[in-house]
Amino acid sequence: MKQLFILFFLGATLGVFSQNQLLIPPTIESTNINLTLQNGTHQFLSGQITTTMGANGNVLGPTLIVNKGDNLNINVTNNLAQTTTIHWHGMHVSASNDGGPHTTIAPGATWNPQFTVLDKATTFWYHPHLDEFTDEHVSKGIAGLIIVKDTDEAALTLPRTYGTDDFPLVIQTKDFDANNQIVNHSNADDVVMVNATVNPKLNVPAQVVRFRVLNGSSQRVFNLGLSGNKTFYQIATDGGLKNTSAALTRLKLAPGERTEILIDFAGLNGQTVQLMSYASEFGNGIYGATNPGMSGGMTLNNYNPNSMNGANFNILQLDVVAQTANPITTIPNSLVTVTPYLEANSDQSRTLTLSPITGGQNQLNGDFTINSVSMDMNTINFTVPLNNIEIWTIQNNSAISHPFHIHDIQYYILDINGNPPPEYLKGWKDTVLVPGGQGTVRVITKFTDFADDTVPYMYHCHMLTHEDGGMMGQFTVVDTTANIDDENFENGFTLFPNPSKRVYMTAKLKNTNEKIQSFAIINQLGQIVGYHKIHENEVSNLISFPVFEYSAGIYILKLYSNSKIYTKKFVIE
Ligand code: C2O
Ligand code: CU
Ligand code: CU
Repeated sequence: MKQLFILFFLGATLGVFSQNQLLIPPTIESTNINLTLQNGTHQFLSGQITTTMGANGNVLGPTLIVNKGDNLNINVTNNLAQTTTIHWHGMHVSASNDGGPHTTIAPGATWNPQFTVLDKATTFWYHPHLDEFTDEHVSKGIAGLIIVKDTDEAALTLPRTYGTDDFPLVIQTKDFDANNQIVNHSNADDVVMVNATVNPKLNVPAQVVRFRVLNGSSQRVFNLGLSGNKTFYQIATDGGLKNTSAALTRLKLAPGERTEILIDFAGLNGQTVQLMSYASEFGNGIYGATNPGMSGGMTLNNYNPNSMNGANFNILQLDVVAQTANPITTIPNSLVTVTPYLEANSDQSRTLTLSPITGGQNQLNGDFTINSVSMDMNTINFTVPLNNIEIWTIQNNSAISHPFHIHDIQYYILDINGNPPPEYLKGWKDTVLVPGGQGTVRVITKFTDFADDTVPYMYHCHMLTHEDGGMMGQFTVVDTTANIDDENFENGFTLFPNPSKRVYMTAKLKNTNEKIQSFAIINQLGQIVGYHKIHENEVSNLISFPVFEYSAGIYILKLYSNSKIYTKKFVIE
């Protein structure tokens, strides 16, 4: 692979290496959406063809174009030989519609989520999310964009004709073996592609053009910029339009993150502009830098050598052609009103500490923990009361930066290592790069609309090797008002639903200042059949715990708080 890669660089510099027209994914613009996941083949490189996975095609998936307020009826049919899931990354949907690791689609089966689009105009994306197999299914090709439109966006003078002045860019790096087959969980990702097109070029009209950019890579962070340090204008972050457009020459985009940018090509007809990653400018501690570890010169096993690391490279060649009819020629300054939640209104703070299990030079690919535990499908790491405003501090105890993603919500970044976020990270976000070497990011969000004590939401690192390697956890959002009557609080705590045939039960102490530290489940023979100690960063007056493993019968829940022991009988039906 190295040889082709060098050719690619030379080619880009000398303008002689053959280039490929950028593929533009087809669209589905309907409230009835049918996606079929399938195996396929795709010619990424010259020589042997590559086996792939795609949605409604050989690789990637159609761009879904929907409106805020639409009632979507989606059928996802799995024609792969493996179980998978499809997750609507960034969208505010109920846990059962979210497509996380619990919502599996068996081979041959169809999943039918139905939900209303509640989100503002934004670029989201969809991808598989099977526990421990997310990287395999995404790197083999399944990923697509979701464009949400709304009236606020429609009122602005912005380019919005898909494939004409509004282009989707799914940027990925992949590793190919000697037979041109994709290698997952690899650190030898040395082929860059946009929309599954290697060495791509695109004709753009000589006017203001919009790009919806996704970093769909498994691990690599890009330092986006234009040749000649040409200015571009960021108009949206992960979760929607910004307050005002931001004039930039660089924008770091980590796996899972999206951005929307405008580039003004006026007067450049006949010229070429390169969209680049200026990775040579990365400091230490980022996947993509010369050194991935924070301390200067710290090497991590498996990271080196990879010719992409610390090198500037072309992502997409933009060839400027004649204007379209009715071109957009201005860059708007003011966009929409983004009103962040206020720190003073927060109901609860949590700290999530990201750590490698093995430190030192062997930490690159995990396994990992969050608050000392790896992802466990049968553990709900904590429970969030519906409508809580929460501040989450993400603390990074590893050498490398991790893009941290939370399902269900969009958040606002309060600070990064104690400093306010840079301009390009101001706005609604669902994924943020947390600096390595004891870096911290604080985010604030509100958990509205969807409570479910059956299906959890995920939080995780969006480097897919890390997600698959345990850097993921689960939370449920529970409506603590709907299930509680005063009678149940007589002993100072309530437990619901009781009797239960549910997947999870939830217990809540009346005194919100009292913290549950551990609990035990005891059967009728007096045997302890379940015990869980809550991590000190996650204690609150509320817990959810799985009960699906228990056979029907009567049990006792014993709750240990910081000041009391509570017991209550419950019934599994
Ligand atoms: Cu983009 Cu949990 O996912
Ligand atoms: Cu997500
Ligand atoms: Cu990570």
